Amino acid sequence: MEKVEVNKKFLWGMATSAYQIEGAVEGRGESIWDRFAQRPGNILDGSRATIACDHFRRFQEDVALLADLGLNAYRFSVSWPRIQPDGTARSHSERGIDFYNKLVDALLSKGIIPLVTLYHWELPQSLEDLGGWKNRDTARRFEEFSSVVARALSDRVHHWITVNEPRVVVELGYRDGIHAPGYREKPATLRQVAHHLLLAHGLAARAVRQESGQSAQIGLADNCAIKIPFSSSLEDVAATRSAWRQDNEPWLDPIFKGVYPQDSHPAVMAGDMNVISTPLDFYGLNVYHGVRVRASPAKWELVNFPTSHPRTTMGWPVVPECVYHGLMDLHDVYHPRSILMTETGAAFRDTVDSRGKVHDPDRIAFLESYLTQGFRAKKEGVPLTGVLVWSLMDNFEWERGYTQRFGLVYVDYPTQRRIPKSSARWFRDYRRKTQ
Ligand code: FCB
Repeated sequence: MEKVEVNKKFLWGMATSAYQIEGAVEGRGESIWDRFAQRPGNILDGSRATIACDHFRRFQEDVALLADLGLNAYRFSVSWPRIQPDGTARSHSERGIDFYNKLVDALLSKGIIPLVTLYHWELPQSLEDLGGWKNRDTARRFEEFSSVVARALSDRVHHWITVNEPRVVVELGYRDGIHAPGYREKPATLRQVAHHLLLAHGLAARAVRQESGQSAQIGLADNCAIKIPFSSSLEDVAATRSAWRQDNEPWLDPIFKGVYPQDSHPAVMAGDMNVISTPLDFYGLNVYHGVRVRASPAKWELVNFPTSHPRTTMGWPVVPECVYHGLMDLHDVYHPRSILMTETGAAFRDTVDSRGKVHDPDRIAFLESYLTQGFRAKKEGVPLTGVLVWSLMDNFEWERGYTQRFGLVYVDYPTQRRIPKSSARWFRDYRRKTQ
């Protein structure tokens, strides 16, 4: 392996989200995912996140695990309905705030930098009853919620992620109906939902800045659509860039340039585009896979991976080059000040062996190849400032329930025992070698 060298500030960490690990639902308001999971057929294994990894009660143990892994960063999300059970300031919960205060303190006591995500898909159900993200007011409620969280934590938290994967909210939650709230809407409605999410992002970025001042590092976590040229021919490379622009401009032009591309205009009110293009300190890239593109008479076409191509249990192809191309394209076209890999990782069929160990060589190979491509892009000038692996531990994988194990730590759900997998030790050693 080529030696990777990064400075001490480089973030090496793990990522999770509240709904997927916390459990303790009785202590918070209802979210759209609680409601969605009740409908038969929505969750693959019929499971719920009622207990999940029981992290709400076991967070000290989980922070100790992070420390053992030798990491310096941890990305988690704040559950909106735990802080505001009905999604408004009327229903403020000190107990909710207290939990995140303690979590932040525990992390800092181990020298781990907390990165806080404000929206990782947990819309309070009472806001959904008022129209959810179809209703512009939801962006305003999110702004208020963000202020509350920033006021409570910004004396100790300096890294903020406004919204996680707004594209997934629109595509899986409002177009395909497979994520909460489970709609199948028309394109015009989808554009409006996207606009409200972008607005929510911008309003939250401003709210956090106002509460925490200039030192705050603010960004979002986006699953940019990654395209890989099928060959290095000029035609294929140009075709790939066209495909890239078509998918990414509707999201990235508003964020980086304050405009929507032609043909994708939602209803916009005065000032919205300024809010949405509030300068970011970093762009968070969530990266799992990409598609291959080549030139064709219709400008470009996708080239599918053969069925025999290596895949994770999510069915996602293993394509390390997607990290390189994802980073390079973003850097070339939008020049973010800094790019943080806010998620990357893989689900495999992990099992506990007769000696109580979990060996996951596929995950190690996956991470090694993905990180190598990230550092290749860094060497070529991309301002990559950290890597956060999805995920610290196996957890509730949305519509797939507990069928997918993404963790570097195995969770035995019946006993809630945590077993670090071999990839956890591998990741610790990988980081050590870079120091
Ligand atoms: C991302 C989500 C995260 C997790 C991973 C596997 O899209 O942000 O919560 O589900 O995928």
